[in-house]
Amino acid sequence: MNNVIELLKSHTSIRNFKEYPVSDETVIELIEAGQSAASSNFVQAYTVIQVKDPEKRRIMAEIAGNQKHVETSPVFLVFVADLERARLCTTLHGEKMEEGQTEAFIIATVDTALMAQNLMIAAESMGLGGVYIGALRNNPQIVSELLELPEHTYPLFGMCLGYPASINEKKPRLPVKLVLKTDTYQNGAEVQLLEKYDQTISEYYSKRSSLNRSDTYTQQLARMFSKPLRPHMKAYLSEQKLNTK
Ligand SMILES: Cc1cc2nc3c(=O)[nH]c(=O)nc-3n(C[C@H](O)[C@H](O)[C@H](O)COP(=O)(O)O)c2cc1C
Repeated sequence: MNNVIELLKSHTSIRNFKEYPVSDETVIELIEAGQSAASSNFVQAYTVIQVKDPEKRRIMAEIAGNQKHVETSPVFLVFVADLERARLCTTLHGEKMEEGQTEAFIIATVDTALMAQNLMIAAESMGLGGVYIGALRNNPQIVSELLELPEHTYPLFGMCLGYPASINEKKPRLPVKLVLKTDTYQNGAEVQLLEKYDQTISEYYSKRSSLNRSDTYTQQLARMFSKPLRPHMKAYLSEQKLNTK
């Protein structure tokens, strides 16, 4: 195993940070590493907003279901999927951007996620740690107002970063056999493999040192996907002139 793979395989989300600050130079270095990710058609459809204003961070922590680390982590970034820059480029050439295209929405979302994950790995390589904050989408409207986001953009997620004060045990992933298939999706062994994975995850949840609980992977997904997931997103994205056609 080389050093990069070792780093990737040692990832765990960090929600507890030392008070030690992260310099602006480090943040710029991380952004540049993030920007080096591949980008669909080279659009680079993202903007990252570092939120330093304590009041904005307090409100965002509340939006995220009172996730205290959103308020207290040394660095808090919001990753904005951004097609507004594309609109500007289009206008600069006397054209009008075709708004609301699902394909453009996918491009912006994927570009932003790849950039963020590159940045996260770069941070981990420097001894930092972090956690994504998808829960900002509990109220994307308020996040947009706080950050003065224009149409054709949306806050995909936030990210807390800092030097880890504690590190969780690594969470076991799905067996490769469930994730890697050959030539066809079908392999007939899904249920059996899921049952085995349930045992692994259940053991992990019951034994881990913090927030241990009795749960399985399939139960977790059943709870999640049997009810509406942030149903306000569709109307919000339409208002931002995203993903309407
Ligand atoms: C897009 C995205 C959004 C996430 N949002 C949150 C969040 O709001 N709060 C949180 O504590 N963790 C969040 N997470 C972290 C996941 O819970 C975590 O990655 C997953 O449970 C696996 O654990 P690990 O990262 O420690 O391996 C998010 C992860 C991703 C990729």
